Formats: sequence, structure tokens, C-alpha cells
Amino acid sequence: MLTHRDHCGLCHSKDIVRILDLGSMPPSNAFLTKADLGKPEPVYPLEVMFCRDCTAVQLGAVLDPRDIFTDYRYFTSASGPLVQHFHRMAESLAQRFIESSNDLVVEIGGNDGSLLEAFPKGQRVLNIDPSVNAVKMSLAKGIPTHKGFFDSHIARILASKSAKLVIANNVMAHIPDIRDAVLGVETMLAPDGVFVFEVHSFANLFSQSGWDQIYHEHVYYHTLKALKRLLEEFGLEVFDLETYPIHGEVMRVYAARPGVYPVTDGPSRQLRMEMSWYLHREDTYRDFAGRVEDTKKQLVHFSDEAKRCGASVVGYGAPAKGNTLLNYTGIHLDYIVDTTPEKQGCFTPGSHIEIFPPEKLLTDTPDHLMILAWNYAGEIKEKERVLHDRIGSFVVPMPTLWYL
Ligand code: TMP
Ligand code: ZN
Repeated sequence: MLTHRDHCGLCHSKDIVRILDLGSMPPSNAFLTKADLGKPEPVYPLEVMFCRDCTAVQLGAVLDPRDIFTDYRYFTSASGPLVQHFHRMAESLAQRFIESSNDLVVEIGGNDGSLLEAFPKGQRVLNIDPSVNAVKMSLAKGIPTHKGFFDSHIARILASKSAKLVIANNVMAHIPDIRDAVLGVETMLAPDGVFVFEVHSFANLFSQSGWDQIYHEHVYYHTLKALKRLLEEFGLEVFDLETYPIHGEVMRVYAARPGVYPVTDGPSRQLRMEMSWYLHREDTYRDFAGRVEDTKKQLVHFSDEAKRCGASVVGYGAPAKGNTLLNYTGIHLDYIVDTTPEKQGCFTPGSHIEIFPPEKLLTDTPDHLMILAWNYAGEIKEKERVLHDRIGSFVVPMPTLWYL
């Protein structure tokens, strides 16, 4: 189910304008089996809006989270570096904010429990997550887990004014009713409770021109400026901020009731950086949309040239963001290789390109390899030296087309 937005999700202003239109496409993680190929495939508009009041950046049409996250097959534990990152986060939070094992730690969207499991043994914890599959894994680890979507109602029932820490990683961009979510967080926090969340920084997406990270799962593209205003409206002060190089860059934001914790210079540093890039101004987003179109033209040109010369182009990695790129540009790939067993044998949503195990490249030598998982470009070049020598052309599509 799709809802068209006529107001800003952060501040409720009606003064929102469309700044980018990527066309209509299926959800980026809706990979198809061979049997699915003959069936109708629902597509939804993918357009980005800018709020002239609070400067928030968000999708103009929002899918019902129940359609995306109930049967979600993404597990944190599948990504080694992410698990390590979360373990370090748990250690740091425990050391900085936890005084006794009786302090309650709540995680919203805690997935398979990869973060909560790293808190000291015996710590009172609670995971709230809507995904059936992830909840099973979390419970199997012995983590008290509530299966369901987070909102202010469930917050009141489960942990009214009692949480020392509320953690929400990679969910603040995903919950359409973010105002209700922040109200829920505030409801759960003890008087000296801390709300910590990690979210992709729009500043990073903007600076890298990583527009393929725009897809239906990501409802918001946050700047600290817009988030800070929202948190303050619900009585929370941002007192610290750090950034980490995860999938580009995430901001780790710390908020609490005003005056409870000293304010570091992290938040003002981030705000200054956002201001220096004019992320509070509408015309910046119009320039950004122009850059998106330029990349599309480049990719279409590359693809047309390859076709004209009879050269084959194979995709490397089938990340969700690759589907935004393929569906928006309409470029042709002969096939894609990906290490994920669940994706192998399937087809990409919308573009219907078949996905094979990487071993296919042991016997096949395409003319070009397009690195769709471009955020891993460095490590791919490192691990595929032999293939690189044989193929010669590793094309990276972002920020503008370049050769690895
Ligand atoms: P992610 O950006 O969501 O982690 O997705 C990366 C995708 O790319 C995932 O489907 C796995 C795939 N991939 C490969 O097939 N080979 C690789 O070497 C890397 C790094 C990723
Ligand atoms: Zn707004």
C-alpha cells in the first residue's frame, strides 16, 4: 500500500516541494524468482521532496512498512564488519552510560540481536522488532524480544519512563511516522535516559552523489539540522554526535533531556558542515537533481556504446541500491554476479537481470564489469586482482563513471 505525502513527516508543514523524480519502480529488495517473472510486478513512484519549513528531505510516496519489514530477510549477523561495529558500540555505550545491570537498554529495530548480545551478561535488555525471521534469531540468543512495529503506544506499554538507553540504528530513516516514533522514545526514557541512534547522513550521500541509495525502504535522508529541530520539539537535546564510515557514513546521534549531559562540539561541527554545503537551501537540491541526471546520461552513453561495439557488461554485486540505478537509467547488463546465495538464481526487480554466483566469472570474460556494490570498490579491486588483469575494465558508476 502506498501513501502520497502532502505534508512533511518531520514538521507537518504542507510546504513541501519535489526536487527529484527517479520514476516508478518496484521496491529495491523485491528480487524475483523465475516463476515470478511472468506475474505483474507492482511499481511505485520514487520521488524526493524538500520541506521548505524544516529542510527535511524525504520520499513523496511512502510504502506501508508492513509490506517491507514483516518478511524482512536482512540479518545484521550476515555482515561481519557491521557486527563488529555494533559490538564496539555496545561496549562504548555500556561504559559511558550504564551504571548497573538493572538499567534497562531498549533497542528499536534490533533485528537479530547482534548489538544487544554484546552488552554485559545479565544486563536488562529488550529488543523491539517487526521481522518474524529476525525475532526468531534474537529470541534464540536469549534476548527478550517483542515482535511488532514500534510506536508511542507500544512504548507506553513496554517501558514507560524506565529506559536508561534507547538505541535505534538504521531505523530513523525507515519509520514513516517519525514524529510518533520520537514521542515513543521520549515516553520510554528515564529522566537521565539517553537516546542513541545511527542513521545515514544525507551530507555523505550528497557529497558522494550516491543517489542510488534512494529507494523505497529509505523514507528520510536526514540532516542533523532537521533532526535536531524534531528532537527538540519532543523535549530532547542533541548533546553529542560522531560519524562512522559504515555504508558511506552514518551519524551516531546522542540525545537526552536538556542539561542532563554536557554538550560536545560534535553536533555544531556537523551543523557547520551541512551549512557550508548549503543543505538548508532548496536550490542545492535542484543542483543535486541535475548531477543525478548527468550520471544517468553518462551511464546510458556507456551502455549504448557497449551495445554498439557488441561488448558485454556484467554487474558485480546486486545490492538494493543497484536496482535504483538499473531502473532509473534503464541500462542493459548481460547478467550480475553476487555472493549472496538467496539472490543467486533470482532476477533483479524491474530490470529482470539474472543473478549468478561469482564463480561464473571463472569461465567467462566479459568486456566490462560494472561495480554496482561500489561502496566496496577498494576491497573488490584488492580481492579480484586476477579478474581485473583478465577483464581490464572495472567500471564504477558513482559519483561519476570512473575506472577502478
Ligand atoms: P550491501 O551494500 O547492502 O552490503 O550489498 C552488497 C551486495 O553486494 C550484496 O548482495 C553482496 C554483494 N557483494 C558481492 O557479491 N561481492 C563482493 O565482493 C561484495 C563486497 C559484495
Ligand atoms: Zn518539515
